[in-house]
Amino acid sequence: MRQGVLERYRELLEITPNTPMISMGEGSTPLVRSRFIENEVGCAELYFKLEGCNPSGSFKDRGMVMAVAKAIEDGSAAIMCASTGNTSASAAAYGAYCGLTTIVLVPSGDVAAGKMAQALAYHPRILVVNGTFDQALEMVRTFTQRYPVTLVNSLNPHRLEGQKTAAFEIVDDLGDAPDFLFIPVGNAGNITAYWRGFSQYADLGRAETLPRMMGYQAEGAAPIVRGEPIAEPSTVASAIRIGNPASWQQALTARDQSGGVIDSVTDDEILSAYRMLSRREGIFAEPASAASVAGVIKFSGQLDLAGKRVVCVITGSGLKDPDLATQNIDMSLQELPPELWAMEKVLEEVVQGTLSLGPKA
Ligand code: F0G
Repeated sequence: MRQGVLERYRELLEITPNTPMISMGEGSTPLVRSRFIENEVGCAELYFKLEGCNPSGSFKDRGMVMAVAKAIEDGSAAIMCASTGNTSASAAAYGAYCGLTTIVLVPSGDVAAGKMAQALAYHPRILVVNGTFDQALEMVRTFTQRYPVTLVNSLNPHRLEGQKTAAFEIVDDLGDAPDFLFIPVGNAGNITAYWRGFSQYADLGRAETLPRMMGYQAEGAAPIVRGEPIAEPSTVASAIRIGNPASWQQALTARDQSGGVIDSVTDDEILSAYRMLSRREGIFAEPASAASVAGVIKFSGQLDLAGKRVVCVITGSGLKDPDLATQNIDMSLQELPPELWAMEKVLEEVVQGTLSLGPKA
C-alpha cells in the first residue's frame, strides 16, 4: 500500500504516539518533465509537480490529512472551513473518511462546478455565503473560536505543516532544490508551506540549495502585488479569487528570504498557459494552477533562465472546472451518423494518406 504523507515524512511532522496515521493515498505526486514549455522559456530543465493527482484532486489533501489527524488526536468531532472549492472538497473527503461532522462555507457563484459536485457528493453541511471568500473565512474564524469545531483552513498550523511535504518530495526527486519554484498565490498558504519545507530540508542538510520562490496572483485579485486588500477580487481563476490573503506576511517573508518575486498575470496569460499545458504537455490543470506556468512564461521575458532548473506547481486538476474547459474550445464538434462512410468522409486526410505527421501547430 502506498504511504501517505504522515507515514512518509513522519519524523519531520508533529506526529505523536496518539496521532492517527490516516491516509487516503495523498502525496508522492508525479514530477513530470516538460516536453514543450521548457524550450519556450529557455531553461535547462522544467518540471511540473502534479498536485491534481491527490485523492480529492488538489494539493489541499497534504495539509488536510495532517489537520484532520490532529483534530482527531485532540478529540474534535467536527471540522469547518471557508473555501473557493478545493479546501472544502478536501475537508469533506477526509471528514467523510474519518466520520467527522464537516461544515463548509463557499462564496456564492464563485465555486467551479467540479468542486461543487465534490462537495455535494461527500455530503458535508454546505453553506453558501452571499459574499466573498474573505468574508466567509472571517465568519469561520469567529465561529470556530466560539464553538467546539476545528478550523481546517490554512490558518490551522497543521495545514501548512502537511503541505510542506510537497517541497520535500521535489528535493527527494531532483536530488536538490530547483533554482526557481513557480506557484500560484491565493490565500498564500501554499507558498509559505513550500518555503518552510525547502528551508527545513536545507537546515537538515538534505538539500544544498534553496529555490527562489516565484508566486503569481491573478491581476484582478493581486492584493500582495498592489500592497493593499481588494474588496471585490475578480479573475477567471476562481480558486485564487482572494482579496485579503491570510498568510500575506509569511508570503512576503518567503519572497524576501529566497530572493524571489510575487507578481501578477492577466486572465489572458492564465488562459493561454492553461491551453498550452493541456495541448502541448497533456496536462489538464485548473486555471489557478496555470498561473504558475503563466508566471514562468512572463518571467522568462524578463530574465534569462538559461541553465536553470525550474519547477511549476500544478495545484489542481482541470476536471475541477469543466465549464471553463468547454467555454475555451475554439473548434466546433463534428457530428456524424453512426456509419463508416460518414467517418471516412470526415477523416478525409487519413483516408487519402495526406495526414501530416508530427506535432500539431
Ligand atoms: N491553486 C488552487 C487550485 C487552489 O485551490 C488554491 C487555493 C491555490 C492555488 C492558492 O493556494 O491559497 O495556499 O495561496 N484554494 C483555496 C481553497 C483558497 O479554498 O480551496 P493558497
